[in-house]
Amino acid sequence: MSLLDVNQLSVKYESFTALKDVNFSVERNEFLAILGENGSGKTTLIKAILGLKDPHSGIITWEKDIRLGYLPQHLNVQDRSFPATVKEVVLTGALAYQKGFKRPTPEMVQKMTQILEDLSIAHLTCQRIGTLSGGQQQRVLLARTLMSDPDILIMDEPTSALDPSMRKTFYDLLKDLNAKGMTIIVITHDVGSASDVIQRIIYLDQTIKFDGTFGEYCENEAISPYIHTHQSHHHGSAQ
Ligand SMILES: Nc1ncnc2c1ncn2[C@@H]1O[C@H](COP(=O)(O)OP(=O)(O)OP(=O)(O)O)[C@@H](O)[C@H]1O
Ligand SMILES: [Mg+2]
Repeated sequence: MSLLDVNQLSVKYESFTALKDVNFSVERNEFLAILGENGSGKTTLIKAILGLKDPHSGIITWEKDIRLGYLPQHLNVQDRSFPATVKEVVLTGALAYQKGFKRPTPEMVQKMTQILEDLSIAHLTCQRIGTLSGGQQQRVLLARTLMSDPDILIMDEPTSALDPSMRKTFYDLLKDLNAKGMTIIVITHDVGSASDVIQRIIYLDQTIKFDGTFGEYCENEAISPYIHTHQSHHHGSAQ
């Protein structure tokens, strides 16, 4: 049985059809990227599989007892006095899975320190979350998600607020997690920095227009012009 099975999924907002006849499965330990232009239904698809948006029709089946980690698309705490530090936000990611009131254990604090170091934000440990940049906040929320040891990590454009050098580091981290057994689904416009880690690509435009390997995707004439435009744009901005 697959980790996730999506069968004939359609999703509507009022009378507007955002997704139609979407069919795919995800196996354990896959590294899947979901691509598509703005408004093609990527976020809607993620919300539907997470149960945050009800389908109009179709069936979504998860393997039993799966632990999900989700990093949403837009997060920017503007309130500079928002009363939580990086340490508090990240540690409560693990506490959320414990029953009753518990203090963070030394093991949890050690794990947090390691994750913050991996994400290059250890120096921000005691800062208030509202004083951080968008990219820093994004990494804090990823750290929080990782504290709960998810079986599958689902991210909606996680690199959009990161500068080009950080993007590569970010994807290297995801590659490590994937090598340790974590299943990864990432929505991105940024395949350029992730070409060596993405195994499979789904290209969405209201329905699935392409589903295959990264290599097959690059050779796909109907879709690849779009991606090449983005890659050259990306290289341009990296210099
Ligand atoms: N809450 C909503 N109410 C009405 N229409 C919506 C809502 N959310 C999304 N839509 C519409 O559904 C379509 C798909 O939106 P979605 O956010 O899933 O696209 P996306 O692929 O994630 O785009 P982007 O790359 O800009 O994030 C768009 O046409 C959008 O306008
Ligand atoms: Mg989106």
